[in-house]
Amino acid sequence: MMERIYVFDTTLRDGEQVPGCQLNTIEKIQVAKALELLGVDVIEAGFPVSSPGDFNSVVEISKAVTWPVICALTRAVEKDIEVAAESLKYAKRKRIHTGIGTSDMHIKHKFNSNREEIIERAVKAVKYARRFVDDVEFYAEDAGRTDNEYLARVVQAVVNAGATVVNIPDTTGYCFPNAYGAKIKYLVDHVDLKNAILSTHCHQDLGMATANTLSGVLNGARQVEVTVNGIGERAGNTSLEEVVMALKSHKDLGFDTNINTTKIYSTSRLVSTLMNMPVQPNKAIVGRNAFAHSSGIHQDGVLKNVETYEIIDPKDVGIDENSIVLTARSGRAALKNRLTLLGVDLDNGELDDVYQKFLSLADRKKDIKDDDILALVGKESRMN
Ligand code: KIV
Ligand code: ZN
Repeated sequence: MMERIYVFDTTLRDGEQVPGCQLNTIEKIQVAKALELLGVDVIEAGFPVSSPGDFNSVVEISKAVTWPVICALTRAVEKDIEVAAESLKYAKRKRIHTGIGTSDMHIKHKFNSNREEIIERAVKAVKYARRFVDDVEFYAEDAGRTDNEYLARVVQAVVNAGATVVNIPDTTGYCFPNAYGAKIKYLVDHVDLKNAILSTHCHQDLGMATANTLSGVLNGARQVEVTVNGIGERAGNTSLEEVVMALKSHKDLGFDTNINTTKIYSTSRLVSTLMNMPVQPNKAIVGRNAFAHSSGIHQDGVLKNVETYEIIDPKDVGIDENSIVLTARSGRAALKNRLTLLGVDLDNGELDDVYQKFLSLADRKKDIKDDDILALVGKESRMN
């Protein structure tokens, strides 16, 4: 029996707040529809009180999308909650995501408050949100730097107040995977969660967002908050494609998501294009080089059996095929394979000769194209 992990996508909220990534309502609807096709369980559509444009986008996404839960973010402030509820009025399934900072750093410097008062405000916000919707998620902002004992008291209080999901954000991307996992485990062990589930929400400041998220899942979290291509505040959020493919590649762990992974690449391209945010070539799963093999040893292995160097079939994420990139590190096997694909058949002696010419060209030229290869063999005379 596989255990279901719910995918909460915040590309349109935590992702969209990145400078330069702003989308208009029509573009947001395009992304929301792609997320629906991808199979995400929850779409965080915006922070409605932040601007009339964001409010309107949540309204329009609620009308345009039918299957996923539509979620709106608020602070633990009544006005925010009222505006969020209003923005969600057309959503078939709706959730309000409210919360407050719980680390001593936030309590002291953001709120000039104390721990007991923060619990009171958290409980009040959850109860108020429950007046409008049945599904209320609470976030304990900066939970990554909140001491576990106090965090457990906060989580218990908001669950008692009616929270259905409790989000444990590593807001500053500070935790190590073992510490984040231990935090989730501490909450599982010390809080009576009733029917509520715990959610991960990790940031990438130290490059550990995916590892932390997976550690959270292994220790009892049942929802993961992610963005397409990992876009998000500062260094970004946990990337959807990494978590989903990690769980899929390790089926033995017993976790499943609803994601149609063959839609991952097209969704990644859409988000990158609309948000004007290029994907780094070596980005896991969706980067240009994610399925490109360039060294001779790897190319030789892949040509013999693709699983020697590929743990994911590119078709599983919607990419047609892997690529063998010819560089000065490529071997004869890769060159011979490319020549065969180009319709050129050489005996071993001829291949040796062309390979030497190829190496001296590849030492000079970074990007070897098929035309360069054909020129080396004299295209007209040698083509079959
Ligand atoms: O990183 C964070 O803490 C957040 C919350 C608002 C959920 O994005
Ligand atoms: Zn965040």
